[in-house]
Amino acid sequence: MLHFQVQTQRSLIVALTPGLDRLLQDYVQRNKTHLERWEPPRSAHYFTLKGTQQRIHDYLLQASQGQILPLVALDQKRESIIATVNVSNIVRGIFQSAYLGYGLDEQYQGQGIMTEILTAAIPAIFNGLKLHRLMANYIPSNLRSGRLLKRVGFVEEGFARDYLFIDGKWQDHILMSRINPSFHF
Ligand SMILES: CC(C)(COP(=O)(O)OP(=O)(O)OC[C@H]1O[C@@H](n2cnc3c(N)ncnc32)[C@H](O)[C@@H]1OP(=O)(O)O)[C@@H](O)C(=O)NCCC(=O)NCCS
Repeated sequence: MLHFQVQTQRSLIVALTPGLDRLLQDYVQRNKTHLERWEPPRSAHYFTLKGTQQRIHDYLLQASQGQILPLVALDQKRESIIATVNVSNIVRGIFQSAYLGYGLDEQYQGQGIMTEILTAAIPAIFNGLKLHRLMANYIPSNLRSGRLLKRVGFVEEGFARDYLFIDGKWQDHILMSRINPSFHF
């Protein structure tokens, strides 16, 4: 798994590890209502410590196979997880591309912290994983997510009907991407 550690003004971005299980469980529990509108349906097991540990185990297996890179951002005191950043569906060959997913602790919204985290994380993801393209898609009503993506250099590419099953229904998405002009094979 890629060693990943990026310090920003207000956070430390690191790769997810088994030792972060309780902090991740705390994060998903306290942000359950905040995140559920924008995420796939979650079972009760998802919010338990065992469920969190199994998820981390699965993520790290996929990461070791070069399929994903799960990251978390810790607060300044390194006492809690304040955001998650997931690179998934890494495809090589002539694509060299992946999807970017993210979420921010509700109490940290509106302070520019996610902009700070993604501004620092994206170049490190491009360089560390040697990717040419990152794609991120959002539901049109998720205005915060759309504004965030534009702030961190994503450009609109299209619109997909009934794209992902989120919050109990198929939802349209706006398709965005950011290219890494420094990429070379
Ligand atoms: C999407 C999400 C990460 C955006 O969070 P956010 O707090 O709006 O983004 P930032 O942390 O970058 O903060 C930007 C906001 O803080 C304000 N701000 C305050 N100080 C700032 C600073 N120093 N720098 C930049 N922005 C600052 C900005 O004006 C902006 O507010 P605005 O959009 O109302 O103009 C968050 O809403 C979230 O986690 N949502 C639930 C999960 C989700 O939707 N995931 C994405 C699915 S596609």
